[in-house]
Amino acid sequence: MPLAFPFDPDIARAATLPARLYHDPVYLELEMERVFAHSWQLVGRMEQVMEPGQYFTADVGANSVVVVRDGGQLRAFYNVCLHRAGPVATGCGKRHTLQCRYHGWTYGLDGALQRTPGMEGTSQFRPEEMRLVPVAVTTWGPLVFVNLDGKAPPLAEVLEDLPARMAPFHCERMRFVTSRSWEIACNWKVYVDNYLEGYHVPVVHPGLNKELDMDRYRVEPHRWYSLQHAPLRPVHGGNPDRQYDPATTDVPEAVYAWLFPNTMLNVYLGQMQTNVVIPLGPDRCRVVFDWYAVDPPADAATDPAWLKLMAFSTEVQDEDIAICEVVQRNLRSRIYDRGRYSAEHETGVHHFHSLLHEAMT
Ligand code: FES
Ligand SMILES: [Fe+2]
Repeated sequence: MPLAFPFDPDIARAATLPARLYHDPVYLELEMERVFAHSWQLVGRMEQVMEPGQYFTADVGANSVVVVRDGGQLRAFYNVCLHRAGPVATGCGKRHTLQCRYHGWTYGLDGALQRTPGMEGTSQFRPEEMRLVPVAVTTWGPLVFVNLDGKAPPLAEVLEDLPARMAPFHCERMRFVTSRSWEIACNWKVYVDNYLEGYHVPVVHPGLNKELDMDRYRVEPHRWYSLQHAPLRPVHGGNPDRQYDPATTDVPEAVYAWLFPNTMLNVYLGQMQTNVVIPLGPDRCRVVFDWYAVDPPADAATDPAWLKLMAFSTEVQDEDIAICEVVQRNLRSRIYDRGRYSAEHETGVHHFHSLLHEAMT
């Protein structure tokens, strides 16, 4: 089955991705190597690695990585022991060293191999020359990103002017509130495609449609990211059905930023939600939502305003999951292969597909 496909950079003439790319296991393997192993991946939060010795682990495709604070320095390594591939860290915590959970080889937080019990009789074995394989790591505000490709351009270059564009929202001052994740029966690209357009909002999200002024909705594709601007509808006379009141903020819109390939930042009214889409298989993914706020509640589990906000985003997420899972099934239909884009509403989806095409071919 050919995995290359023609792709037209002109949205008005282009056809969407071939359906098989949404369920072919071989294509997913290629994406793991060509896309996920060369892009910045949001893996955790600064507050998890503030103090010396604090660490957390995360998966980037099939690769486990560990991010650790070594004194003042943030480092990341493949979480793979050089002996027989045991894990040097699990979960998260605080340690003076990284000790393999298999036979106990011990590494410094700088990755240097320090202790190798029982290896005395092994010839030409020089632990002093061995270290954990490093991974590029960097931060943006409260977020920690890694890149498996040591030669990848720095995150700041990939983000271009995005940090300046987000400055009015004060994301860098936001603190973590809570997290939730969903396992969804669709290819990761089905979820990302759906995220990248507001075209479906009136049909799929009647509640959200009341909040956003879809006539003024616009999409702004950049090199490696895109922005969707969704101005909030004005509230007339304190409508009790409404979640968000644009009159209460200096920035009366929601901004949805997407960073190739699988990271989203949804920012509005002093809070932000990050979404990361993690492929689990050709037709499965996990979506992790982390919420942040400039003024976090004392307890998000009991704070009425937060409960309302979380219930609303869960409602929208459930609506998206339902449509994504049906689309995934239909992408296997014997009669469907490629569709067409709305040149007005789907520039974000076309932009994603053009980046994917570039990375894969
Ligand atoms: S695999 Fe790590 S010590 Fe053996
Ligand atoms: Fe949606």
